[in-house]
Amino acid sequence: MKKIVVTGSSGLIGSEVVRKYCQSGWKVYGIDNNMRADFFGPNGDTRWNQQRLLADYEQFEHLELDIRDRTGVDATLAAIRPDAIVHTAAQPSHDLAASRPFDDFDVNAGGTLNLLEATRRNCPEAVFVHMSTNKVYGDAPNRLNLVEKDTRWDFADADYFNGIKESFSIDQSKHSLFGASKVSADVMVQEYGRYFNLPTCCLRGGCLTGPNHSGVELHGFLSYLIKCNLTDRKYTVFGYKGKQVRDNIHSHDVVSFMEAFIEAPRIAEVYNIGGGRDNSISILEAFQLIEDISGKKMLYDYVDQNRAGDHICYISDLDKMKRDYPQWHITKNLRTTFEEIYQSWLERGE
Ligand SMILES: NC(=O)c1ccc[n+]([C@@H]2O[C@H](COP(=O)([O-])OP(=O)(O)OC[C@H]3O[C@@H](n4cnc5c(N)ncnc54)[C@H](O)[C@@H]3O)[C@@H](O)[C@H]2O)c1
Repeated sequence: MKKIVVTGSSGLIGSEVVRKYCQSGWKVYGIDNNMRADFFGPNGDTRWNQQRLLADYEQFEHLELDIRDRTGVDATLAAIRPDAIVHTAAQPSHDLAASRPFDDFDVNAGGTLNLLEATRRNCPEAVFVHMSTNKVYGDAPNRLNLVEKDTRWDFADADYFNGIKESFSIDQSKHSLFGASKVSADVMVQEYGRYFNLPTCCLRGGCLTGPNHSGVELHGFLSYLIKCNLTDRKYTVFGYKGKQVRDNIHSHDVVSFMEAFIEAPRIAEVYNIGGGRDNSISILEAFQLIEDISGKKMLYDYVDQNRAGDHICYISDLDKMKRDYPQWHITKNLRTTFEEIYQSWLERGE
């Protein structure tokens, strides 16, 4: 039986990886210490997801381990010697990082290094997939020429119509402390690939979303926005007239790309992974879509000050993913994704 270790296994992406590989007959080890609840309070708690996975899959084993625990991580990989590692555990919020800089860096950068070195020592053949972020580009995308449309900002330059490529600079821009800790991890994952010839890849996510997110104001905007609509809570829009654009990808489509990579790995690869132009939406447009689905008016406040380092318009160029793995494509459009998230909040009793 093949074995996979998934860090952040109770979170949005990690739990989807667990499901996928359990269904494919692998032995799946999930590492998660519910630190999301520590970061975001009870609304960020991911235990509900952990319990569901344990109830649904016999071959799933939960390991209550903190990825900052260097000895524990090394001993775990030495004991399991997995065929693949998908690393999704993180402090994922750029706003939160400023108030908890050590925790942010220790988890995002230090935790990733612990996993990489444990992989090199114990199972160098294992494919290592790392969830990185588009925040590695900092706010440099905001320097592109933009055009203001009725409900969204858009790239003015035709070269960027399909979005931002992996060759975009990660240097000399404002990243937020989160973006900086993720840059460290991203570069380290690439380095373990190039320097030690390990099959690693960094997936620089746009907005990753789906029904398994424990969305909170500081992280998981679509999940949180839909929860606000459902529960008549006011959503706060931070700057850019609410026309800021995000490209959203359902966790199912993220995981199907990971699967393709694990099946045919490459060395030290980097991919921008998001919903692409077809799945891009502004906050104002997202309000319209959820109102259409739920039949309820979206309540919101507007504050002029944008979040520090926040992107005005970000769309991932998916060309490289499609070129290297032509069988992969987006299967969930925005409406389906919205409907699934909406349904999931209903089922969770919101
Ligand atoms: N969701 C997005 O929009 C998005 C966008 C770009 C990149 N990413 C990246 O994708 C990855 C997964 O994101 P997500 O949305 O699934 O996050 P998530 O918060 O839903 O899941 C992360 C999980 O990791 C766990 N965790 C945190 N610190 C830990 C630690 N020290 N030890 C063990 N477990 C720990 C948390 O408890 C949580 O269950 C992250 O690296 C994130 O930076 C996410």
